[in-house]
Amino acid sequence: MDDLRDKYITAIADAADEAALEDIRVQAVGKKGEISLKMRELGKMSAEERQTAGPALNALKDEINSAIAAKRAALADAALDERLRGEWLDVTLPARHRRRGTVHPVSQVTEEVTAIFADMGFAVAEGPRIDTDWYNFDALNIPTHHPARAEMDTFYMHRAEGDDRPPHVLRTHTSPVQIRTMEARGAPLRIICPGGVYRADYDQTHTPMFHQVEGLAIDRDISMANLKWVLEEFFAAFFEVDGIKTRFRASHFPFTEPSAEVDIQCSWVNGQLRIGEGDDWMEVLGSGMVHPKVLAAGGIDPDEWQGFAFGIGIDRLAMLKYGIPDLRAFFDSDLRWLRHYGFSALDVPTLHGGLSR
Ligand code: PHE
Repeated sequence: MDDLRDKYITAIADAADEAALEDIRVQAVGKKGEISLKMRELGKMSAEERQTAGPALNALKDEINSAIAAKRAALADAALDERLRGEWLDVTLPARHRRRGTVHPVSQVTEEVTAIFADMGFAVAEGPRIDTDWYNFDALNIPTHHPARAEMDTFYMHRAEGDDRPPHVLRTHTSPVQIRTMEARGAPLRIICPGGVYRADYDQTHTPMFHQVEGLAIDRDISMANLKWVLEEFFAAFFEVDGIKTRFRASHFPFTEPSAEVDIQCSWVNGQLRIGEGDDWMEVLGSGMVHPKVLAAGGIDPDEWQGFAFGIGIDRLAMLKYGIPDLRAFFDSDLRWLRHYGFSALDVPTLHGGLSR
């Protein structure tokens, strides 16, 4: 009995892992284990022998079982220690900066403008950035030799010699979307058309690609008064100042008659621009009553319908509202600039939730 105990207690102490320990358990106290077999022999013993051997075997079995349990716990502890040593972590290290993208001011302002006009019943319409010169010019009452074509610094698409398809241009404004939407949907209409436009120009306030939002409302009995109300509502909501004053200056666009350039009230305090106060003026957009020829080009009867239209620079609105000095930086993809001027992707501009935070 003492030999058995020594043998198994030593083996248990020396077991290197769980598997070795399990082998020992099976050998000693498993169904066909050495101690189990011995216990089966009890029946062949005399009653006297059985009285000493029985309890002794039972005690040995218990001792081995608890030695195995203790060793199993020790092995588990050792394994945990080993893991903790391997996964050592310095909680005093500075946190690693998580890289997060931001919403570009052009996207932000587009969302803001869309939210404001949606509230006044304007739907968003879109058109292609590469368009025919008919949509970009002719249909808007700018015939081939009109000086406005030369003023626009248009990018013309290359045409192979002998290719007589109509010439394509990078659209110089969002106004062609007026024509496309009139053709597709007819009157009445209330739309805004945000998107990229192109002109060959480059300095602090001009880039070859920039963004506009076109507005177009067509109905019966539409007048300049409706235009003025809609724009004043828009400026008050966009710049978040009530009762912002506007000034309509007579102007000229081939596609509107009459036409007006619109200024908003502003002031300069220590070189800082303040929108919606003071008695200076800042030009922000072109507008007017849609020219009868433009309605006709879009397939709408000008004797039955009238409309107003306007075009605003989105990038320019962003510069004014968020105090961004140089337009060229909008298109540099400089992450430092984006982190500074960008917006959180989770703050979607809405009229009820606030346009900008
Ligand atoms: N398309 C004009 C521009 O780009 C702006 C405009 C739009 C003016 C609609 C009047 C009406 O300069």
